[in-house]
Amino acid sequence: MTGLESEMGKDRSAFIKWVDDRFPWTETMRYHVTEYYASKNFNWWYIFGVLAMVILVIQFVTGIFLTMNYKPSAAEAFASIEYIMRDVEWGWLIRYMHSTGASFLFIVVYLHMFRAMLYGSYKKPRELIWIIGMLIFFVLFAEAFAGYLLPWGQMSYWGAQVIISLFGAIPFVGEALVEWIRGDYAISDITLNRFFAFHVALLPLVFVGLIFLHIVALHHVGSNNPDGVEIKEHKGADGVPLDGIAFHPYHTSKDLVGIIVFLMIFSAVVFFAPDMGGYFLEHANFEPANTMATPEHIAPAWYFTPFYAILRAVPDKLWGTILFGASVLLPAFLPWLDRSRVKSIRYRGWMYKLALTIFVVSIVVLGWLGLQPAEGIYVPLARIFSIFYFSFFILMPYYTTIDKTKPVPDRVVYNA
Ligand code: HEM
Repeated sequence: MTGLESEMGKDRSAFIKWVDDRFPWTETMRYHVTEYYASKNFNWWYIFGVLAMVILVIQFVTGIFLTMNYKPSAAEAFASIEYIMRDVEWGWLIRYMHSTGASFLFIVVYLHMFRAMLYGSYKKPRELIWIIGMLIFFVLFAEAFAGYLLPWGQMSYWGAQVIISLFGAIPFVGEALVEWIRGDYAISDITLNRFFAFHVALLPLVFVGLIFLHIVALHHVGSNNPDGVEIKEHKGADGVPLDGIAFHPYHTSKDLVGIIVFLMIFSAVVFFAPDMGGYFLEHANFEPANTMATPEHIAPAWYFTPFYAILRAVPDKLWGTILFGASVLLPAFLPWLDRSRVKSIRYRGWMYKLALTIFVVSIVVLGWLGLQPAEGIYVPLARIFSIFYFSFFILMPYYTTIDKTKPVPDRVVYNA
């Protein structure tokens, strides 16, 4: 070490000491990073939380640059997106990163939630992490819905028309509520303006706040792991969990590999298939909104279609809306519906494994049905798979109680 470097080292520690006297920097870093002990047996299912954060950063940065050239008005919105795509330097890249990022955020968040279902991460003492996660999920829905109106394409307009009009099914106040949400007698410039405000200001703020709470709750109780064993129950003399390893540098270095692999896949889509055959950017949305002509099939973006299929499966508008709402809300109750003594799927019996498989199949099939027209065989199919979807939750207290579980080991299983 040269004299200068050692001087700098001394300076830095003196600087950090100065900060520490005024702000709990070292204490915070220890608690959340260098002395946060997470289980040594994490597998790749544990990458998705970090990836969700990476995508959020991408969305914030690209979103800010988009806002610099986007015009939130019914007369100019569509043309301003075309301008970004064709004339703004690197505008096409920024826009494709943002639109691809939206779909990837849903993929990653769905996998993140599924991981929690595999390993019972929503069970005691992590119920609040799950509930905050569900709030994040609702905000994500609202954020994506508001963002989808902004390009002011045919699907933006008619998709919003269908979803907002659902509120009209509510008895007595429905119609007034619809008008209040739209701010006008139809979806108009006023609606676009308020959705823009929600999309770029209000909802991102709520998002950041909720993610902060999500991590605070997680670090308070500690992460679960693929065995569903509480590592805090076996600590060494130094008070460190015997099966825990420090988040930094051990988990961070592993996460970095996952982030690099993710960025490679993400770039492949952004550069080679940004519209993903009409799933990430729908073909009808390349036409400007036309208030006089409905597109042939109105379908929301792919990440909403399982719930949309449930909505259309019910012939009555009010009941359709109620079941649609219930299908989105029900997962929030998982910590109380699941009565199993064990957390991880590794030690559960065949009933939960079968139920989870049927649940996944129903979501995928409903997602596909939501993209088809509501006619012919698609309607009874949507009804059957909606019943499977709801049964997974409603019958859960029963089958998780009688399911024969395997003995859970005391310590995590880890084969290096
Ligand atoms: C943008 C949205 C989200 C972000 C950035 C995020 C971030 C994270 C991070 C960084 C972790 C720790 C690392 C990991 O276990 O993967 C985590 C854990 C967790 N998250 Fe999220 N999360 C998000 C959405 C959700 C949602 C929607 C849910 C569920 C409804 C959820 C439920 C959980 C649970 C239960 C854990 C603890 C998992 C365990 O310890 O096994 N998260 N989250």
